[in-house]
Amino acid sequence: MEPRTVKIHDCEFSTYIFEEEIIARINILAEQIDEDYADKQPLFLAVLNGSFMFVSDLLKRVSVPCEISFIRLKSYQDMHSTGKVKELLGLTEDIRGRHVVVLEDIVDTGHTVHGLLQQLKEHNPASVEIATLLMKPECLQHQIEVKYVARSIPNDFVVGYGLDYNGLGRNLRDIYKIVS
Ligand code: IMP
Repeated sequence: MEPRTVKIHDCEFSTYIFEEEIIARINILAEQIDEDYADKQPLFLAVLNGSFMFVSDLLKRVSVPCEISFIRLKSYQDMHSTGKVKELLGLTEDIRGRHVVVLEDIVDTGHTVHGLLQQLKEHNPASVEIATLLMKPECLQHQIEVKYVARSIPNDFVVGYGLDYNGLGRNLRDIYKIVS
């Protein structure tokens, strides 16, 4: 595949994970979820905004009966995560006794997912698992189990396929890595 570069704000990004690989990895996740959630009717909670492409491609491939709802957390301001627990917005479903699968774009330090899990567990779901498109294992600062990871990456800032850099880059169909 021909490498491409894109300039977003003050930074240059170069193609890193092409759409074909993303879809191949999502296919594997969908098969795992189908196997693990047969007869459980999971409720997927997609964390906006970054997860929208991942959610769309994943759920087209999940075939167990399921529900999907969208939640939002306080937005990420720059290239570095802050340590604060972000407020959960938009949880309209009663998740008590439900098998919940949180759909995330990327787990970096894990602050976001850790805080979200704490808030969700207060509602007594039957189970909660995390499915993420990307994960940066080197950056993880919490003891959390992320059961479904489409692709692990090193500690590089990435954009595309739903992920942004200060608002831009979400619409790119491939994932790009920062070069300068
Ligand atoms: P965490 O709380 O440090 O795990 O960060 C999670 C959130 O930070 C994600 O949902 C993204 O919105 C954002 N984030 C972390 N790393 C990146 C990146 O490389 N590109 C774009 N957004 C990122």
